[in-house]
Amino acid sequence: MPVITCIEDLRRLAHRRVPRMFYEYADSGSWTETTYRANESDFVPIKLRQRVAVDIDNRTLVSTMVGQPVSMPVALAPTGLTGMQHADGEILAARAAAKAGVPFTLSTMSICSIEDVAENTDAPFWFQLYVIRDRDFIRRLIERAKAARCSALVVTLDLQVMGQRHKDIRNGLSAPPKPTLANLLNMVTKPRWCLGMLGTKRHTFRNIAGHVEDIDDVSSLSSWTNQQFDPTLNWDDVKWIRDLWGGKLILKGILDPEDVEPAVASGADALIVSNHGGRQLDGALSSIRALPAIVEAVRGRMEVHLDSGIRSGQDVIKALALGARGVYIGRAFLYGLGAMGEAGVTLCLDILRKELDTTMGFCGLRDVKKIDRSILVPGTY
Ligand code: GLV
Repeated sequence: MPVITCIEDLRRLAHRRVPRMFYEYADSGSWTETTYRANESDFVPIKLRQRVAVDIDNRTLVSTMVGQPVSMPVALAPTGLTGMQHADGEILAARAAAKAGVPFTLSTMSICSIEDVAENTDAPFWFQLYVIRDRDFIRRLIERAKAARCSALVVTLDLQVMGQRHKDIRNGLSAPPKPTLANLLNMVTKPRWCLGMLGTKRHTFRNIAGHVEDIDDVSSLSSWTNQQFDPTLNWDDVKWIRDLWGGKLILKGILDPEDVEPAVASGADALIVSNHGGRQLDGALSSIRALPAIVEAVRGRMEVHLDSGIRSGQDVIKALALGARGVYIGRAFLYGLGAMGEAGVTLCLDILRKELDTTMGFCGLRDVKKIDRSILVPGTY
């Protein structure tokens, strides 16, 4: 077992342990992957001010996101097919998040259903909704999320059309994987993953299968899903969802300051500056570069969160310094999950927590809620 000291170590181990189709689903962006790479590399030029001889004893990372207490301002992002990185992945990640005191967000396109996660965890989790054409299905999904006592709804706004990820096409991505020779040859080299999958009944999109008529196999499910992304989505739909849901509402996928006014007017509690992990518009700004203009346009009227590109506690502190109330990790926790199941997600959160805490110390800070631009070197952001 290799020594794990950082998120990159978890990525390498996940690469070895997860079948290629699912590892590459997580570790890829759309088209040329320019935005995907920029999400990480644009953190690099931003520089932190090191301070010395400042009392940094008793540091605290405790904060809130949409009014809910968090042990550090880092949530688990909604990621599709999480239960294909590791058997029962959503349940394991939700448990690790609950133990760590941070929110877990369940994707509509998860393998474990809302009910599976609710029955197998104690803490409330957040639910992510795609606005798909079948509005009746949305209504039922929202009811199911309420019945499961989900404590926030995250509505994804940047998937009206789908970015092309070349690797998914090449790999013939599906859940469960089709038993082709190439898939079988790859899977025999991943015995832990296979054993896990043999031990669970959760192999396909359980929020959908069994909840929509005539969806009973992989090909009917995938053609239903492909037809369901809704190009007509608009702000009236967001208000309709807000009224149906009635609880904490978070809008995901805002990158442009011009989209801020309608987001504020929708009455949502927070928005997430996100380019979907570089999986949608290739050529879009990285999230960290988009963040300052969004924060300025919001003018404190709602919380601003950030996702895409976070791989370290140093990244977290830079996002907070530029005005994010909290951040989300997607790939970072998926690597932990693929590498070591629940323990890997716990390790991922521990790594980020230690990095954030120590970096706060170097910057002369004791309270995560007090982080602001003054910790950044002028001219580097
Ligand atoms: C779905 O949200 C994806 O990015 O694959």
